[in-house]
Amino acid sequence: MKEQRREGDAFAFFAPLRETACECMKTVLTKSPVEAAEFIRRGGIVAFPTETVYGLGANVFDAQAIAKIFSAKKRPNDNPLIAHVGEIEQIKLLVSEISEMANKFIEAFFPAPLTLVLPKSAEVPLIATANLQTIGVRMPRNNLTLEFLKACQTPVVAPSANLSGKPSPTTWQSVSEDLDGRIECILQSAATEIGLESTVLDCTAETPFVLRAGAITLEELKKIEPRTKLYQSLKTKNPKSPGLKHRHYSPRAKVIFQGSGFKIQDSKFKAYIGLNMPREEFELVKICATIDEYAHSIFEFFRRCDREKIEIIYCETVEECGIGLALMDRLKRAAEN
Ligand code: TXA
Ligand code: MG
Repeated sequence: MKEQRREGDAFAFFAPLRETACECMKTVLTKSPVEAAEFIRRGGIVAFPTETVYGLGANVFDAQAIAKIFSAKKRPNDNPLIAHVGEIEQIKLLVSEISEMANKFIEAFFPAPLTLVLPKSAEVPLIATANLQTIGVRMPRNNLTLEFLKACQTPVVAPSANLSGKPSPTTWQSVSEDLDGRIECILQSAATEIGLESTVLDCTAETPFVLRAGAITLEELKKIEPRTKLYQSLKTKNPKSPGLKHRHYSPRAKVIFQGSGFKIQDSKFKAYIGLNMPREEFELVKICATIDEYAHSIFEFFRRCDREKIEIIYCETVEECGIGLALMDRLKRAAEN
């Protein structure tokens, strides 16, 4: 269905639909990308794996299906969605213009855990972009995801497939824990390769800005465009990336960074994750061999802590470079809550 209303009306129109969209339904589990894609083609919403985290997808041109995503996730409606393409050619359907700079990033990285924010085309309904005139676009680097997207025969908008505020899911079981009975289908696969969400890069200004750190690192982006900067004002009321102001990545347990000399509270049921063995005793401990493994494990560890009723999670800090920047970003935001 194409958008036909005045711009500001997108959410007003969908509000009643969003309230009724969450009646309990049977969530089909499948390993077939073609079967999963059929649900998208019929206006359903489907969780699918990518190389970063599992996403919850709908046809980008189907405003009613997109409304169901916001409802199923309980997502604030001012938080825009990322559009996923199975072929580079499809980017043209989503954006009004691809600058030379954006083209350089596409050629250098796509398919990749990298989302480019570009001016949106008139065909994309405003509910997908939370009324913004820009759209985040990415081509995932995972064969099953690409097979699924190609079978959908349309770009697919997808936020992470968790209930809003919870850690992003890196396994289909975690998707099911949050969304069983709220979505039409889950495309099952192994745990995702990276475990943190994509790098979001704003390409709408002269200078590209990293709005969210991810596996494509600032250092790699600077090799393509040396002026690339980190967007700093994450704390402002109107950040460039609306999602950044919302509660995020949070386990129920309190998250604390472990620095040297930190006082551990013995009375609490506590867990530890990091690269080095701690001296203190914890009820649950995960030691990761590399920063990549730490990034890969963090969201699933948060979820496990919640299942095991952990009260405090102590996280070792890492150097904020490479994937360490993205990992520390997620840890800091989890600790804020
Ligand atoms: O790796 C990922 O990016 C995963 C997988 C499923 O692709 N998706 C994901 O989506 O993490 P989500 O919705 O959980 O996070 C999207 C982030 C939010 O912070 C949102 O505000 C930002 O991207 N974003 C999306 N569209 C934007 C736009 N037009 N302008 C600025 N920020 C945008
Ligand atoms: Mg998310």
